[in-house]
This record gives sequence, structure tokens and C-alpha cells, in this order.
Amino acid sequence: PKRIGILTAGGDCPGLNAAIRGVGKTAMVDYGMEVIGFTAGFSGLIEKDYVDLKESHLSGILTLGGTILGTSREKPYKVVKEGENDKPELIKQNYQELGLDALVCIGGNGTMKTACRLQEEGLNVVGIPKTIDNDVWGTDVTFGFDSAVQIATEAIDRLHTTANSHQRVMIIEVMGHHAGWIALYAGMAGGGDIILIPEVPYNIRSVCKKIEQRYQSNKPYSIVVVAEGIDHPKKVSAAAHVGEAISTYTGIETRETVLGYVQRGGSPSPMDRILATHYGSFAAQCIAEGNFGSMVAMRANQLTTVPLAEVGGKLSLVEPDNSLILKARKMGVSFGDEYD
Ligand code: F6P
Repeated sequence: PKRIGILTAGGDCPGLNAAIRGVGKTAMVDYGMEVIGFTAGFSGLIEKDYVDLKESHLSGILTLGGTILGTSREKPYKVVKEGENDKPELIKQNYQELGLDALVCIGGNGTMKTACRLQEEGLNVVGIPKTIDNDVWGTDVTFGFDSAVQIATEAIDRLHTTANSHQRVMIIEVMGHHAGWIALYAGMAGGGDIILIPEVPYNIRSVCKKIEQRYQSNKPYSIVVVAEGIDHPKKVSAAAHVGEAISTYTGIETRETVLGYVQRGGSPSPMDRILATHYGSFAAQCIAEGNFGSMVAMRANQLTTVPLAEVGGKLSLVEPDNSLILKARKMGVSFGDEYD
């Protein structure tokens, strides 16, 4: 039988176990393949640290957050230091010694880049995109995103009460270093008044003007949703920076909440379970059909594959003319860029 390896790399997110289960069960049940799981991302592949996965390992994990295989930010192609082992060489050796026919790499942009290089070096690789940030190029959506938006939206819902009761400006910071997908979606789903994302440069004058306008029209409270990656001095959080500026210029009381890792933890949403299952099962099918060097993807609601070589190094960012942004603007939501 064919023998395949699976690993999860980069930051964890809800749905990883559903994807592992999708790959594993399809590979074992439908194709009679043997499956091994490498521990802690690429570290397990370098150190030959793995478990033989049986169907029983895959039972009961669909609803679990995190990853049963563990993960790490190990980047095997990061400049090799003098005297350090040649990690890509070790990976190739281990892949051969373990008799692998293919490797499934579940991860974000960095992982897809590594997966692509391993493919170029002769391994058979299939990538599965995951991240709460939704910024993997080549797919419309990554699993983990829907769960994160759900958690962030619930947090915004809860902040409305204190904003109203105390007549305060509540600033909530969500994840997204480069991409503002979580801030945009949770901000809109939670009825945020101002949404600041890295892709749309903001200025404090516009932010304060919006808050003052609301104040004057009998809405003496506001919800400001910011992505962690917006322009701000790195010694403070984005939320603290924006909050401080708002209270200084408007005199209105502000409070900040940094949501942090809460939005990456816990059980995946039903949509993420389904998406991760689709991706996992389809990745196993790609292996069976010899479709290597590709990343599984969802485009216009169709499961498809994209060459890994096209994915590496690019990011899927929010376009400033994204239709949700345009609608939000028509409804009076500020993106902090209305005035100079
Ligand atoms: O998974 C992506 C992400 O959540 C980013 O938005 C965040 O800044 C980063 O991971 C931090 O992760 P870690 O602390 O695990 O490196």
C-alpha cells in the first residue's frame, strides 16, 4: 500500500484536527493507504518523530481545537548556521527511509513556501491552507477564519453593553498582522462603528471626527475594531495606541480589549469543520490521483487545486474596494481615512 505522511505547521487554529481526520480517513478507508503523522510540524520530519496513525486515532477529534500532532514554527530552509545539520537534506533522507509516497503539509503561507521547496527537491507534496487570518493566496477561504470571526463577533457583541452603559469608546484589537479579514468581517458582523485594517491607511483625525459626529447625533458611545497590524508604535498594542489618541483628542473615555489567542482556540465552527473535512479528503484524493505540488483550495465555492509554486510568497489581502467595505462605507462605517 501507499504510505503518506501528514504534518501541521505554523500557528494552530480551529479545524486542524478535522483536516487531519479528513486526510487520514479518506486515505485509509477509501484508498487503503498507510498514514503517519509527524509531530510538531517540520521538526517531526527533521527529527523523524512520528506516530503511525490508525483509524482509532482519528475518532473523536473532529470537534477538538488545536492539533493532535502538535505544531511549531520550524522553518527548515531558514539559513543554515555553521555546524548545524542540513535540515532539508535530513527531511529528504527521512522521507525516503520511511518509504513515503507523499507528504501532506497543513499550514499557512510559510508552510506553503516550504512545501513548494520540498516538492522542487523531489518529494511529492500536497498543501492544505489553514489560518485564522484568511491570508493564504490562491484560495478564497482558509479554515480557522470562520471560527475566529465567530469568537471576535461575540466579543464585540459583549463590548456593546459597556459602551452603551458607560458612554465610552470601546476599542477591540483582533489578529491579522498583514490582512484585515478578521477585523472587517467581525467588525461588520458585530456592528462596529469604525474598522481599521492594515490595507487601508487610517488617520486619527478621521477616527475622532466619526466619534464626535456620533456623539453629536445622540450616540455617545462607539465601537472601534482594529487589526493588530495597523500602523502603530510597536511598544504598545494597536488598541492602546488608538485608544490613547481618541481620549486625548476627543476627551471621551476609552477602554481597550486585546482579544489575542482566545480567537485561535477551542472547537471549530461547523463551517470550519466542513471546510477542513473537504480540504483533507480532497488532499487524499489528490495523492491517489498523483496531483502533487499543489495546494487544495476553494474558489467560487468549488474545490480545486492551485500549484504550490504560484502560492509561495504572496498574501491574500483585503482589497480597499472589497464589496463589504464599499457597503459599510455607504452605511456610515468609518475606515479612518475619510479626511486628510
Ligand atoms: O495564525 C496567525 C496569527 O494568528 C497572527 O495573526 C498572529 O499575529 C500570529 O499568528 C501570532 O502567533 P504566534 O504567537 O503563535 O507566533
